[in-house]
Amino acid sequence: LEAGPVADALLAWYDAHARDLPWRVSPAERALGVRPDPYRVWLSEVMLQQTTVAAVRAYFHRFTTLWPDVTALAAAEDGTVMGEWAGLGYYARARNLLKCARRVVSDLDGRFPDSPEALRLLPGIGPYTAAAIAAIAFDRPETVLDGNVERVMARLHDIHTPLPGAKPELTARAATHTPTTRPGDYAQAVMDLGATICTPKSPACGICPLRAPCRARAAGTAAELPKKTPK
Ligand code: ADE
Repeated sequence: LEAGPVADALLAWYDAHARDLPWRVSPAERALGVRPDPYRVWLSEVMLQQTTVAAVRAYFHRFTTLWPDVTALAAAEDGTVMGEWAGLGYYARARNLLKCARRVVSDLDGRFPDSPEALRLLPGIGPYTAAAIAAIAFDRPETVLDGNVERVMARLHDIHTPLPGAKPELTARAATHTPTTRPGDYAQAVMDLGATICTPKSPACGICPLRAPCRARAAGTAAELPKKTPK
């Protein structure tokens, strides 16, 4: 499988079926070259680290209403931010969120860096989040590997090696499909596919934009992938 056909099919599907999420720009805006706001991308990705899209929506709306940009968030009281975070869980994320906002304002003139290497130096930003921000906010051809993408790649290539051992193989496969045009939309397209069609149980293979090249669909193994090492 080459990069081109998979990315092309996913991008065409995304143009028609992208989820309408508050940190995204609309298709009309995208057509005009509008880029997503790095602050909103960063905030959404930190919130989404251990929380579902459905749960994050309301919190994202509240945070961006109270603090529309990184300068506003950096100036907020710790207690106020922790209070607004209540319910999202994993409170280290909220403490790192504030640390990161203050660092961006004090050291970086309020601008998020565009490279994954520089992003990773910031509090609360690991390899996944750094790649996601670089791709989505800055359209850099980074390979974003979360649980959704692992599942899509395991199925597309019919990889039966169990997780977590399969990670290097899945990363390598994922990298071969990352396009140099529209990498940010592509990263979000794979995540949306994993969340809405290539789901853990009962994947909707019949309407999947990748049904033609998908090896697991051909082999009838999609629903059993990815394999996991028993605990
Ligand atoms: N999960 C984590 N980040 C996401 C994003 N940007 N779009 C869809 N699902 C996601």
